[in-house]
Amino acid sequence: MINIDWDKKFELGHERIDFEHRVFLNLIRTISDEEESGSDKERILRLLAELRKYAEFHFLSEENEMLKVNYPDYEEHRKEHVRLLANYSDRVAEFRMDAIPLENIVEYIFSWFALHTTQVDKRLAEYIETNDAE
Ligand SMILES: [Fe+2]
Repeated sequence: MINIDWDKKFELGHERIDFEHRVFLNLIRTISDEEESGSDKERILRLLAELRKYAEFHFLSEENEMLKVNYPDYEEHRKEHVRLLANYSDRVAEFRMDAIPLENIVEYIFSWFALHTTQVDKRLAEYIETNDAE
């Protein structure tokens, strides 16, 4: 089982984005814990739906920050968000049909989070830091 803990490498120095990332990671951890305690499938599907809604909210929130500062990599970054949501939906559908274990989704979303946050979001936070004078 993978260790889903907050790490200082996830800290980007942008208060709002960092806050939302913490919530995002908490939701992943909750799902992982439920898996270990053997919760029923309906509850897990509701938690997976909650994570989906939060991801949509958080991506929109980041994209609005990008537009605010005329971020040059907006399209590229937005596409990563779209791809993640599509892959996530596919996996949740497969889990619903018992085609894959929940662990598969947890590992996928956590590795995506770790990679995206420390690379793609990091670039964004640095750009905002140097270009947003407010
Ligand atoms: Fe992002």
